[in-house]
Amino acid sequence: MESNRQVWEKASQKHVREYDDLLRQAREGGSLLPRERTVLRPALIAEPAVVHLQSGHGLDDVDLIRSGARSVVGVDFSRVATSAAQRRADELGLACRYVVAELPGAPLATGCADLVYTGKGALIWMPDLTPWAQDAARLLRPGGHLFIYESHPAVPLWSWDADQPRIRPDRSYFAHSFVNDSFPADGAVEWQWTLGEIVTALVTAGLSLVHLSEHPEPFWRPQDDTDAAAWHGRLPNTFMLLARRPG
Ligand SMILES: C[S@@+](CC[C@H](N)C(=O)[O-])C[C@H]1O[C@@H](n2cnc3c(N)ncnc32)[C@H](O)[C@@H]1O
Repeated sequence: MESNRQVWEKASQKHVREYDDLLRQAREGGSLLPRERTVLRPALIAEPAVVHLQSGHGLDDVDLIRSGARSVVGVDFSRVATSAAQRRADELGLACRYVVAELPGAPLATGCADLVYTGKGALIWMPDLTPWAQDAARLLRPGGHLFIYESHPAVPLWSWDADQPRIRPDRSYFAHSFVNDSFPADGAVEWQWTLGEIVTALVTAGLSLVHLSEHPEPFWRPQDDTDAAAWHGRLPNTFMLLARRPG
């Protein structure tokens, strides 16, 4: 965990280097994808207090506020990422507050959130899903929702070959971890969770499944001209999940 934190602290300098570009992107909007907006719409109409776990650059928070959220509290263990996100939110006059903390174990009150939002490269940094799911459920008020838009657990298997997708010989769907070789790299260890493990962790934490869908588009692409055949519609690259705390 500590070595991953150090890698992320260094990688998050990107948010500082590219501050002006991210500010422009924030002003333009579009970080929250149409598909996310569709599933989130009923929750956003109620002007929720949102907690964003692993908030990273925080661009989603700008869209969440503009789509109806009353407030967003972002939690991330990178001081660099949270301070860049706070600076931008302040500049735009948005009701976003950023907290530096390691997850799971958000230093926020039980039941403080109408909506917990997370994903886009979040679950893979959790070495144990049970406390993560319990923490997300704890933050929700009864009737509140957890939303995840995340890389599909099968993604580590896909090669980035341009002619056709291949299964990487060094990966297994059922492995526990591997060393990240894209971003942030630098020796960061990613954890693997199957879709079954993710759903079971949430149900065991007392949440009810409302929506689960799998999608061909990746949420992230490298900033070069890589265009993998695995991203062309035949394979799952993302999933979206909505769960509700009963009551
Ligand atoms: C790929 S980024 C995604 C974040 C966000 N969804 C976004 O789109 O920017 C992953 C984030 O998780 C944070 N992170 C990783 N492990 C963490 C942990 N155990 N506790 C808190 N934050 C963590 C990193 O600092 C990083 O900002």
